[in-house]
Amino acid sequence: MAKSRNVFLVGPMGAGKTTIGRQLAEVLGKSFKDSDHEIVRRTGARIPLIFEIEGEEGFRRREQDVIDALTAEKDLVLATGGGAVLKPENRAHLSGRGTVFYLFGSIDQLLRRTRRDRNRPLLQTDNPRARLEALMAERDPLYREVADAVIYTDERSVRSVVKEIVARYRHMEKERQAK
Ligand code: S3P
Repeated sequence: MAKSRNVFLVGPMGAGKTTIGRQLAEVLGKSFKDSDHEIVRRTGARIPLIFEIEGEEGFRRREQDVIDALTAEKDLVLATGGGAVLKPENRAHLSGRGTVFYLFGSIDQLLRRTRRDRNRPLLQTDNPRARLEALMAERDPLYREVADAVIYTDERSVRSVVKEIVARYRHMEKERQAK
């Protein structure tokens, strides 16, 4: 039987990519990686510090290297940073090297889940709601462009979201392998 594809999670900050990805990997028997964690591991610096020193541009360059390397690995569940879809090269790697799920959350939900967070430089503003709205307006079409399926996460437990992704992934794998 052909090998099962990698699973890539995309979506905005606060959608639950890391938490859901970890559990998903366990259920699917794949290893779990997170592109932000990999950037921190490689640089030895936390994300706010990378933004401070190198700006968003510098962070995006590092993110691109990491996405290229991690999407090329095998048997992986990968949680990506919310801005990973901005670069066309990343979008090509994500949609070409695995099955992509877009974890969608409403602005209210995303705000609730990121409220006390100090680790996301883009949300350290007086008006995080306006920032999230602007980011979603720009990125929602890009998430949809790369996604094989959109998963709604509002008001749902991690367990229920994981269950839905597993079912949809297995179905897609079956169809793919039947071809
Ligand atoms: C970002 C999202 C963050 C992190 C960085 C930039 C973004 O990842 O990569 O702060 O541009 O949306 P999460 O989506 O895991 O919070």
